[in-house]
Amino acid sequence: MQQINHDVIILGTGLAGLRAAVEISIQSQGQCDIGIVSKVQIMRSHSVCAEGGTAAVMRPEEGDSLELHSWDTVKGADFLADQDTVDRFVQTSPKEIRLLEHWGVPWSRREDGRIMQRPFGGHSFPRACMAADKTGFFEMQALYDTLVKYQNFKRYDECFVTSLVLEGGRFAGLTLFDAPTGEFYVLRGKALLFASGGLGNLYGFTTYSQTVTGDGQAIAYRAGLTLEDPEFLQFHPTGLVPSGILMTEACRGEGGYLRNNKGERFMEKYAPKMMELAPRDIVSRSEMTEILEGRGFSGPDGLDFINLDLTHLGADRINKRLPLIREVCMKFLGIDPITQPIPIRPVAHYSMGGIEADINGRTRSENIWAAGEVACHSMHGANRLGCNSTAECIVWGGITGGEIAKYLAKKPKSAALPDLKVADEEKRIFGGLLQQSGSENPAHIRRELRTLMDQHAGVYRTGPSMKQGLEKIAGLRERFKKISIQDKSRIYNTNLIQALETENMLQLAEVLLFAGLAREESRGGHARTDFAKRDDEKFLSHSMVSFNGGKPKLQYKPVTITNWKPVERKY
Ligand code: FUM
Repeated sequence: MQQINHDVIILGTGLAGLRAAVEISIQSQGQCDIGIVSKVQIMRSHSVCAEGGTAAVMRPEEGDSLELHSWDTVKGADFLADQDTVDRFVQTSPKEIRLLEHWGVPWSRREDGRIMQRPFGGHSFPRACMAADKTGFFEMQALYDTLVKYQNFKRYDECFVTSLVLEGGRFAGLTLFDAPTGEFYVLRGKALLFASGGLGNLYGFTTYSQTVTGDGQAIAYRAGLTLEDPEFLQFHPTGLVPSGILMTEACRGEGGYLRNNKGERFMEKYAPKMMELAPRDIVSRSEMTEILEGRGFSGPDGLDFINLDLTHLGADRINKRLPLIREVCMKFLGIDPITQPIPIRPVAHYSMGGIEADINGRTRSENIWAAGEVACHSMHGANRLGCNSTAECIVWGGITGGEIAKYLAKKPKSAALPDLKVADEEKRIFGGLLQQSGSENPAHIRRELRTLMDQHAGVYRTGPSMKQGLEKIAGLRERFKKISIQDKSRIYNTNLIQALETENMLQLAEVLLFAGLAREESRGGHARTDFAKRDDEKFLSHSMVSFNGGKPKLQYKPVTITNWKPVERKY
């Protein structure tokens, strides 16, 4: 079987992966040989969908400060964030915004020519640097354009990674197959960066592209790396009904209202000071309470909704600041937000948890790093603030890129490759999974999984319901053993890819509910009606889940508290 060697492999080509590739190229003066792998084409990574903005303190002279950004992030996180990590984040982010400026991001501008920043939920100062409502798209373009100035990388587009191979705890290789040819091979490197994004497709109603299935988290977990805080899944307050497409928080940052079926701006009951711009966990719970108490609107397939009202903003503001939102509403629903309210409800949007990584982005393995949503550096704790995610991607893309360049400069040796493991993996997929003919259709299993996650791991959770969810997942995993993949060829076998994704999703769904059931408190995105209060005595700690003989094993790790002791969150 073919083996291909590079100095470093980057798995994922979203903001974090591209930013890291640029940093490695700069620091090694283009000498480091990078293999950059994506299961889609490089610019189709989900980061292009990021809309509202990127958080940074850019105007201290107008009243913002690094300390205030740290405080907002820690309080927004319901005090589960590691505070040293948050400090590093807020200190680094302004520098990254300026770099993106130099690399060509066409930031929206104020009258005085400075970068425009809009208000975002949970931030006490307008902090979201923006390029209209297509911020991620422009950031991706600028990073890729910068990367192509270097000739030191090879793209592996449309390659699906099936396993992480470790030797003596170190990265030895990734097994993958190339979708267009079906060729199976091993990519080897002295270092690996996970930058493969989130897992939003565990849910049926989600803002995510169909491709976001947590493959990076799943292969890392199976290989022995630890997943941290997986139960903290963020529901964004404004997913378009019925598609789930993101209606950016910028709609509310620009002044949009949320209204129930009585026309009331109900947020005044739940967050009288910040109203619609309270943190996402609070706004999502408030919307669900309105819906559950009968003050929502009846929607298709049980998707009852709330109205997002932009009609008072005027055509000019909407056309200039929210052009994508208007276009999507018109194309998908035939409504014009200039004159009509938008039907929305809470939607699965972001995973605060991920592969455990330290403040430098290094995992428990000496030569593996993680950056972006796939990672958990513990900076978002139990609830991330809006526009802190694209910022985190570029900050830790830069940090991990720098760390990897330093590591490679010491000329480390590659770990030996255990050939048997690689051969077994090829047999498992092309000899086993692809050839077996069972009675189960993996697409049905995937659909049932996503529905059950909507039902059992939603905005509000209970112990009995999560337990039932776990039992259903166990049933689906049994059924997965009996699947049949219809397409038996090796060329562009999307049936096979989707089956492998489903296998990963089943594993991660189990981990999420397993950690959620054990956390008998409510904190941030994990809201239990049977344990409605935060319990700092027992649970001011990170959940750490590892793969133990095929089953998840749970331990806890203390939160790093440097400046702020937990207090009640009021907005
Ligand atoms: O609402 C949004 O534009 C999403 C931003 C984010 O998740 O940070």
